Amino acid sequence: MIELLTERLRLHPLDLDDLDDLWRLDSDESVMRYVGSGPVADQAAHRERMQELVVRFADSPFGLWGIRKLENDTFYGIALLIPFEDSPDIEIGYRLLPEAWGQGVATEAGRALIRYGFEALRLGRIVGVTHPDNAASRRVLTKLGLAYRGTRAQYGQDVAYYVADRGVADATGEAKPAGSEVDKTVELSVAPTVGRHG
Ligand SMILES: CC(C)(COP(=O)(O)OP(=O)(O)OC[C@H]1O[C@@H](n2cnc3c(N)ncnc32)[C@H](O)[C@@H]1OP(=O)(O)O)[C@@H](O)C(=O)NCCC(=O)NCCS
Repeated sequence: MIELLTERLRLHPLDLDDLDDLWRLDSDESVMRYVGSGPVADQAAHRERMQELVVRFADSPFGLWGIRKLENDTFYGIALLIPFEDSPDIEIGYRLLPEAWGQGVATEAGRALIRYGFEALRLGRIVGVTHPDNAASRRVLTKLGLAYRGTRAQYGQDVAYYVADRGVADATGEAKPAGSEVDKTVELSVAPTVGRHG
């Protein structure tokens, strides 16, 4: 994993130092309303699970990124690019502390990851899933250039399923527009090495 810089944000590979911030995020009821099985209650178990994830993705181009304000390093939340179920596809996701909502942070971070995925990693497809009632998340996926492909059963519930294919996403002008906002706001700060998934 590499660090990604945008106009306002620093996306950094999530580290063991970030576990307290992550706990603040994952134990927040409003953040977790539509995520997994809701807010996490057991801090020790959460710590253990997150440690495993950090280790699992340490040598991978995929994983979880912390999102921080570039200016002062304030923690905003996390974004992820991880293998999607047993398919060769990669899933994008994000969740932010409530104080960061409504400022375009998820879209800015997501665009950095979409560009990293398609341009640097040369992924063929990036998918996204969300609770069908999660209108803000659905809107972000659309703004990132992913197209709605109906609902599907996942994680024991029906989720809204979104897909961006590299060529199609390029053509929409959303995910990878040459000379657009994305190019101005995203820098890939280090050339990544493409390795095994997870
Ligand atoms: C979903 C989430 C990441 C969005 O982050 P954000 O930084 O506020 O998103 P952005 O500002 O980039 O974009 C949000 C878009 O959704 C729209 N939106 C927000 N709330 C909405 C609602 N209730 N109904 C419809 N649209 C909504 C915004 O207007 C904006 O669209 P616009 O730019 O066209 O106006 C954030 O709300 C969050 O972390 N929620 C809790 C965790 C979560 O649900 N994560 C997704 C799990 S799949």
